[in-house]
Amino acid sequence: MNYIQIAIDGPAGAGKSTIAKLIAEHLNYIYIDSGAMYRAITLKAIKLGIDLEDERMYDFVKDTKFKFLNGTLFMDDVDVSHDIRENNVSNNVSLVSSYFFVRKELVRAQQILAKNHNVVMDGRDIGYKVLPDAKYKFYLTASIKKRAERRNIDNLERNIKSNLEVIEKEIERRDFLDTTRKYSPLKAADDAVIIDTSDLTIDQVVKLITEKIMEDEKNGF
Ligand code: DC
Repeated sequence: MNYIQIAIDGPAGAGKSTIAKLIAEHLNYIYIDSGAMYRAITLKAIKLGIDLEDERMYDFVKDTKFKFLNGTLFMDDVDVSHDIRENNVSNNVSLVSSYFFVRKELVRAQQILAKNHNVVMDGRDIGYKVLPDAKYKFYLTASIKKRAERRNIDNLERNIKSNLEVIEKEIERRDFLDTTRKYSPLKAADDAVIIDTSDLTIDQVVKLITEKIMEDEKNGF
């Protein structure tokens, strides 16, 4: 059986996770949040008390187990979905996700998770690196201002302390780090459909993408 893979990439706050999750629900596919996996490894590194700046200390990644249940990430059988959103994790995840060894192991884990299912996977390098043969590829983007506003609301809803100006600065910093890092920087795959979500609601983007996929599938593309 040929499984269908949908890759959704883009910068922080472009609405990727929410949109990818809803598309997966609509199509009854499995949703894999690759950013959550980088966050989980960052959380584990912090808990282990290793020197985060010492790339040689990340051997533990290869013995770490991941499982997604209804979009919720379990690391080593523990639900980490809340803890990975803490500021301490957000502020260190760009560093941790820049390491070659961490990326190599997580890309492998992501490819295994996507192997025997129809999946929607979101991240930064999914379309050109993790799932280069994905049938559908989208790159979602939005202005920094809009992305900061969305992250602010998201934090408040999750009861996480939040300040709009600080978030704007953090997003700018994270964009810079994510797009300029040496290994697998954030970028659109050459064959991705680029969607600017600044002036679109979540529902509009979800509709745009699911309708395109359902139409293509119905026509046997
Ligand atoms: O999507 P997010 O903000 O939860 O992602 C957290 C971090 O993980 C982000 O700074 C970039 C990194 N990341 C990555 O390098 N590659 C991915 N495929 C997904 C996320």
